[in-house]
Amino acid sequence: MSSTSLAKEKNGDPKVDDEKTLNVGVKRHGDQDDDSVEPPKKAKEHSSIVAEHYNHLEEKGLSERFNSPIYYLRNFNNWVKSVLIQEYTEKIREKDYGRTLRVLDICCGKGGDLSKWQKARVDHVVFADIAEVSVQQCQTRHNDLRARSRGGRLFSAEFIAADCSKETLRDKYRDPSISFDVVSCQFGLHYSFESLPQAKRMLTNISECLKPGGYFFGTIPDANEIVSRGKKSPDGSFGNRIYNIKLLFDVEKGYPLFGGKYDFHLEGVVDCPEFLVNFKLFTKLALDFGLELVYKARFADFFKDHSERYRHLLQRIVCFESYPPPPGKELIADESEYEHAKQFWENKDNKTERDRVGTMSTCEWEVATVYMAFAFRKLKSTWDSNGKPVYEKPKEESQSTNKN
Ligand SMILES: C[S@@+](CC[C@H](N)C(=O)[O-])C[C@H]1O[C@@H](n2cnc3c(N)ncnc32)[C@H](O)[C@@H]1O
Repeated sequence: MSSTSLAKEKNGDPKVDDEKTLNVGVKRHGDQDDDSVEPPKKAKEHSSIVAEHYNHLEEKGLSERFNSPIYYLRNFNNWVKSVLIQEYTEKIREKDYGRTLRVLDICCGKGGDLSKWQKARVDHVVFADIAEVSVQQCQTRHNDLRARSRGGRLFSAEFIAADCSKETLRDKYRDPSISFDVVSCQFGLHYSFESLPQAKRMLTNISECLKPGGYFFGTIPDANEIVSRGKKSPDGSFGNRIYNIKLLFDVEKGYPLFGGKYDFHLEGVVDCPEFLVNFKLFTKLALDFGLELVYKARFADFFKDHSERYRHLLQRIVCFESYPPPPGKELIADESEYEHAKQFWENKDNKTERDRVGTMSTCEWEVATVYMAFAFRKLKSTWDSNGKPVYEKPKEESQSTNKN
């Protein structure tokens, strides 16, 4: 098997080469041979396409958000992020209550998680993103939040506009000796899987200031799910009325470890090329940076794992719509997208006129189930004679976590 591609296995789960593969230069489509005479014409760098896209994304008002065809999907995504933030900040506090909590929110966007950090009562957050307009909006939102807190407790913050897959974040911190308790990367890590050096730089930024015992968590599109949906369509393109994905490589030949590019369009939110994250490879690579996988789950399983404990939050964030719709209210999608809820409701015993089930349109759920959540714990390290960290071997299985 070549070092650049993944052999397909019967179950559709691609097989990752041994560890050595990770340390060799990865040659991708379009790369030039060393002896080529003509330098390649430079296409617009992918990172500037991404930055431009997010810089131009308009901020939506409350009423516009409420009327959005992805209203419940957005809320559900926010629920997943809130749960991750609460779970892992609590785990830190369980060990050391009252400790000052410092956070790196990498690929922070406009600061969609500002109020989640406030609720988690953290002390300091470094926000970093490639899109400088988004970083400015994040800073403005932080100022607004401070004004609204009227002298109440709000974390201090710093804001960095940088390509986190190419630049060293540590050089840009106010205090380069800062150490973080948690690092969060929500819906952003996959952009760095364009190449091995970019993924490594991103992981260096994530890991190098994270304390041993600290957590790195986030959300990404699930490559296996995307590839398996893509295989069912003749041209590798699939979707519904709110999203569309087009694979930009021949899926029948497997997919590249890095640079597995696809176009992703999600109604009013995302419209740019992204890269597949092979999760086995990501886990192996992360271990080189002292990050041990402690949890991973597709969003459907994440929901099963956490819906009981965080039920109140599901209701407060309004992740589901009521079926049948209460008098005077309409469903946000066509009735045909609620067959599952209709059947469930009709089979419900002893129901009253006022009984409802919480649900989501099939189109929104189809998008939600493209994603997965993960968490890693930073291992303790010693130093070798060259001053490089040597990480303690992870324990075989950690209890009460789902790595499958
Ligand atoms: C889908 S948005 C998510 C924003 C935010 N984390 C949230 O959950 O609301 C993805 C973000 O990743 C950022 N991003 C993409 N590539 C990046 C890179 N190389 N370095 C830093 N940020 C990057 C984009 O600018 C965008 O703001």
